[in-house]
Amino acid sequence: MSAETQTRAMTPAAIRAAKGAPPLVCLTAYTTPLARIVDAHCDLILVGDSLGMVVHGLPSTVGVTLEMMILHGRAVMRAARRALVVVDLPFGSYEAGPAQAFASAARVMAETGCGAVKLEGGAAMAETVAFLSARGVPVVGHVGLMPQQVNVTGGYKVQGRGADAERVLADAVAVAEAGAFAVVLEKVAEPLARRVTEAIAVPTIGIGASPACDGQILVLDDMLGLFADFRPSFVRRYGELGAAAEAAVAGYAADVRARAFPGPEHVFSDT
Ligand code: KIV
Repeated sequence: MSAETQTRAMTPAAIRAAKGAPPLVCLTAYTTPLARIVDAHCDLILVGDSLGMVVHGLPSTVGVTLEMMILHGRAVMRAARRALVVVDLPFGSYEAGPAQAFASAARVMAETGCGAVKLEGGAAMAETVAFLSARGVPVVGHVGLMPQQVNVTGGYKVQGRGADAERVLADAVAVAEAGAFAVVLEKVAEPLARRVTEAIAVPTIGIGASPACDGQILVLDDMLGLFADFRPSFVRRYGELGAAAEAAVAGYAADVRARAFPGPEHVFSDT
């Protein structure tokens, strides 16, 4: 059965229906082997544009292209059987207007077979979210910290503290009312994330937000300890795979230099 035709347990409708239910478990993934592991445990897999930083070594997500998202989206779709796969629309592929956003989203969906797209932006993107939703593109919103806007905002600061709370709340309400079936809240002050979760009718998916959110998401490489460039305070490390990889590569290098690898069991006789 192809990725395009398989029946998934998790659909946009199932995610939407999980409002107020036990928390949705979500992680990013970018490759087939890791997506297979994530799929066995998660409700939603995000092919996030964070791949620009954690996989491709870019300084921010701004340089990520539609082609990169499609390539990794296809890799993840080869593994995902149960979870809903959502692919990020990258910077520059949707902000010009609804028609541009539809063209990009339609390409992503047709070329990867994913079930939905995610785009950053609040009230300013509401018209686009409505346009896509009305034309067969399920959309996840993303408000609070919007990493694609780092060149305007100048950093990755906590959003929605003090008077700023009303702006973030209005952003979440705008995309939810425009038709988003879930909304990511990134690096939003905890009381506000809780308030947004109570205020909107679709699930909130928190990252650096609140345990009260309807779901949680982390960047896989962060929680596995694979991405060492920086360590966000909101990440709990569930593994130290970077250190394990370092030790494995060092062991291999030592063995090769000592002619301890390959051993007799790794070579072939002439019969
Ligand atoms: O790109 C990404 O990984 C994301 C998550 C941080 C939600 O958008």
